[in-house]
Amino acid sequence: MSLLRVEGLGKRFGGLVAIDDLSFEVAPGTVHAIIGPNGAGKTTLLNLLSGIYTPDRGRIVLDGRDVTGQPSHRFAAAGLGRTFQNLQVFFNMTALENVMTGRHRHENLALLPALLRLEPAVWAERRCRADAEALLRQVGLASWIDARADAMPYGALKRLEIARALATEPRLLLLDEPAAGLNHTEAREIDTLIRELAAAGMTVLLVEHNMRLVMEVSDRVLVLDHGARLAEGTPDEVARDERVIEAYLGAELENDARGATDSEAAHA
Ligand SMILES: Nc1ncnc2c1ncn2[C@@H]1O[C@H](COP(=O)(O)OP(=O)(O)OP(=O)(O)O)[C@@H](O)[C@H]1O
Ligand SMILES: [Mg+2]
Repeated sequence: MSLLRVEGLGKRFGGLVAIDDLSFEVAPGTVHAIIGPNGAGKTTLLNLLSGIYTPDRGRIVLDGRDVTGQPSHRFAAAGLGRTFQNLQVFFNMTALENVMTGRHRHENLALLPALLRLEPAVWAERRCRADAEALLRQVGLASWIDARADAMPYGALKRLEIARALATEPRLLLLDEPAAGLNHTEAREIDTLIRELAAAGMTVLLVEHNMRLVMEVSDRVLVLDHGARLAEGTPDEVARDERVIEAYLGAELENDARGATDSEAAHA
């Protein structure tokens, strides 16, 4: 059974069709990428898939539950976690505190035993801290645990967002451009992290313009253009698809090549 099933999804903004009769499925334990030109509807799709927007038509089935039209906390309860294209970090908090805010859902669940004094609150707090620290280590931020977010470099903040999303213990993780704005080395670290998450059984839906990353980590790639499916297949299949090259990959690969040349020049 698929972990996520999207059927005939549609979303308009006034006269603009942002998502157009879109259907696809994501199998558990896979990395599924969504690529396409600026304005193709990728972020809109993630907003629909996390309950931030309500679709005009179609269905979203998450882990066997129809969550269409539900508020976003229901999507979270059904196992969905996400990061945002624009960082949603609390800059006046430490890295640890940012991750602990992601654990609130679990803390609520732990409230009853705490009230019944099955687990003293101080232990629950300690456990929450320990879990948040472990997540920060997992994403490679061991040395930033007590740093305030406003003192952290951009690459570290992108990983902090991932740690915070993981704190809700999602089964499906949506990542909106996790490598955007990162240099070559930082982007490689995101590669590694996504592979590690996938190896541990996480299902990942990845929106990304960095084609090297997409091609390396994805099991399947869905190509969106004007809110509709242009192509879908393995990374090799979509990379060879003439329509995809024409609509998107041609320009994007040129960008990548230019980026690589720039960074090689910078390191020369
Ligand atoms: N809240 C909104 N109100 C009106 N129009 C919107 C809204 N959100 C997105 N759009 C429009 O919907 C279209 C799809 O936008 P979206 O942000 O989903 O694209 P994207 O594929 O994520 O692009 P990018 O690669 O630049 O992030 C665009 O034309 C955008 O202007
Ligand atoms: Mg976007």
